Amino acid sequence: MSQREYAFTDADFKRLRHLVSEHTGISLSEAKRDLVYGRLSKRLRAHGLNSFSAYTDYLTSNPDTEFEEFTNAITTNLTSFFRESHHFDYLRESVLPELKNRNQGNRRIRIWSAGCSTGEEPYSIAISLMESFPELDNWDVRILATDLDTNCLQHAAAGIYGLERVETMSKDRLRRWFRKGRGELADKVQVDNKLKELITFKQLNLMGEWPMRGPFDIIFCRNVVIYFDKPTQRVLFDRYAKLASDDAHLFLGHSESLFNVTEKFKLIAKTVYRRST
Ligand SMILES: C[S@@+](CC[C@H](N)C(=O)[O-])C[C@H]1O[C@@H](n2cnc3c(N)ncnc32)[C@H](O)[C@@H]1O
Repeated sequence: MSQREYAFTDADFKRLRHLVSEHTGISLSEAKRDLVYGRLSKRLRAHGLNSFSAYTDYLTSNPDTEFEEFTNAITTNLTSFFRESHHFDYLRESVLPELKNRNQGNRRIRIWSAGCSTGEEPYSIAISLMESFPELDNWDVRILATDLDTNCLQHAAAGIYGLERVETMSKDRLRRWFRKGRGELADKVQVDNKLKELITFKQLNLMGEWPMRGPFDIIFCRNVVIYFDKPTQRVLFDRYAKLASDDAHLFLGHSESLFNVTEKFKLIAKTVYRRST
């Protein structure tokens, strides 16, 4: 068996698991032991520590500086532009036309991308809005994009992506919404400022306080709660329901479901839910 660089006992894993779950809601199964070792080893290296118990002591004694690094290392940030593309079709074809009618009075639309990772999701929402909503300029439309991971948010706010991230996008869309980088950024694209102007990126822990008042017409929370246990999901969806407008839409990830979690949202299409009264 290969020798590990650092001591990592059952007790270390248990302690770290508890800290992760308490702070982020992420529930780490036994199968995630190697992943935790791999992701946190670099934090031990950064501080010149030689065991996980020394790291956990360091973490709990220096929460103001180390917790951010710790959670950034633990979160899984996989995402892509127009991931689960049927959601964006549904947004364009059903949700936005209905909202245009319903909110004609105040001409206001609020969308929340909760767990936005590196920004591909909120930019895909912004592109869908701009392409299907020509009257947008005369409306008060905002997308709030939040995540716990500060590295992801920095990337998201910069809006600079490798060419491989946009290779499946149509040429038209690419030309319209992305600028080709130059010099050092020659192998990258940058999103158009018109998209950036629609979005506010903010760090927010879904387990903590939420400063926003809402109400949100649309909430995207995709591929986030898959890492949370059911009781944590229940509390989270009850909180979403309180911040959602009547009839708001909620989009979940492909393997997520509200069955046996909450009745405050009802299923209306594939992984699309609606606030029930
Ligand atoms: C797999 S990504 C999903 C990204 C995007 N929604 C999508 O479906 O492509 C999950 C994101 O949830 C974020 N996350 C996990 N726990 C969180 C928490 N307690 N509060 C806020 N964001 C969290 C992670 O940092 C990560 O960026």
